[in-house]
Formats: sequence, structure tokens, C-alpha cells
Amino acid sequence: MRAEIDPRSTVGQLVAERPARSRVFEALRIDYCCGGKQPLEEACRQRNLVTETVVDLLLAMEAQEGDAEGADDPGGMTLTELADHIEQTHHAELRIELPRLGRLVEKVRDAHGETEPRLHRVFEAFNALRDELSSHMVKEERVLFPMIRRMELAIEPQGQHCGSIANPIRQMEAEHEDAGAALEVLREATDGFTPPEGACNSWRAMLDGLAWLERDMHRHVHKENNILFPKALQLESAANAGRST
Ligand SMILES: [Fe+2]
Ligand SMILES: [Fe+2]
Repeated sequence: MRAEIDPRSTVGQLVAERPARSRVFEALRIDYCCGGKQPLEEACRQRNLVTETVVDLLLAMEAQEGDAEGADDPGGMTLTELADHIEQTHHAELRIELPRLGRLVEKVRDAHGETEPRLHRVFEAFNALRDELSSHMVKEERVLFPMIRRMELAIEPQGQHCGSIANPIRQMEAEHEDAGAALEVLREATDGFTPPEGACNSWRAMLDGLAWLERDMHRHVHKENNILFPKALQLESAANAGRST
């Protein structure tokens, strides 16, 4: 069955419906996580892409390979399941990868920083990003996700103890923007994670790790910004409407 794609849908919605679409957006450098609220036609205009061609690419990709990521269907999860999934996959992987990448970034800067001064920028941007992500994940795990789980279980009426859930969500979205900006710096300072001629294996491993980080952060932030957070806000306003009637 040929799915319809409405170019007025936001890129975030399109990926929420079918996660495999993220691959097309990544290849075209269309931001579907922090920029996920943009309609597809607007995102195409900004990148000088013909909307119809992008829609054809999306449909061709779907026809060709189906939805390989269908098993990981964040749109079909409850909020509690999705929060658990984010912690057990993205957060857990970051806790393993960030220290490993940190060691590589330092090693490569020490060995090649003189001949490639941009490695100093990579080192600084990466360290700032790593520190911010570490505290960001703790805030989600200790504050926001527990609020979302309690709200879904209707254990705690919202708007009474911690204020609206919109406040921590806004804060997390702002931090996602900062992480996106840091990832842009990393991409730019490494020519899109491309190894220079004659790069040693550590350098190649570092670039491969940074490219993974960018990809994984896009998926991770997408699940939060475009699925978990809007659904939590919806649930809160439904609960508030229920109480006021
Ligand atoms: Fe997260
Ligand atoms: Fe987050």
C-alpha cells in the first residue's frame, strides 16, 4: 500500500509515524528533532530542496525496504514504556559511549592538534556537550520522566506539586537545542566527520563515534521532543480539563 505523505505535516510527525524516514532526512540534512515542528514543505524550502522530490524519496525508501525500525515503534508505546525505552537504550548507550569517545577525542587532539588545530575545537565542544548531556539525562531521569510516569498512572494530579509539566519540558527542549548546536560545531570542525587523508585509526574511530553520536542524538531527541513531550502535555491538559468539569 502506497502511503500518502502530506507536505504540510511536520517533519517530526512524519518520523513519529515511520521512524525509517529519519534516514532520508539525515541524508538530506533536514533537522527532524529540534526542527521537528516545521512542516516538510518549509524544511525543504529552507534547504533549497524540491518538496515533491523529497516526498518521492520518502515513498521510494518505504517501498524498497519497509520499515526496518518498525520494531522500535516509539509512537505505539505508552508514555511509561517510552520513558523506560529512552533510559534503557539512548541514555544507557550514551553512558558507555561518552567516556570512550572522550578518551579518543583527547588522544587524537594530543597526537594531531598541532597539525590540525580544529581538533582543539572538537575537544572543547565535545567536553562541553558530554558534561551537559550527563546532567541533562539525570534531570530527565530524576525529575521529568518520573513526573510523566506518575501522571500516566494518575497517581498525582498535575499542577499541584511541581507546577505544570510544561516547565521542565521547556527546559529540556532548550537543552536539546544547545546539544544540537554543539553537534553542529563538531560536524563543521570535522568536515562532516570525514577522515582526512592518512588519518590514523584512533582519528577514524573518533570520527565514527562522533557520527554515531549525532545520529543517535537525532533519534533520541526526536522521541522526546516529538512524541513523549507532546503526549505528556496532552495528557496534562486532558487531566486538567477533566478536573475543571
Ligand atoms: Fe533523554
Ligand atoms: Fe533529552
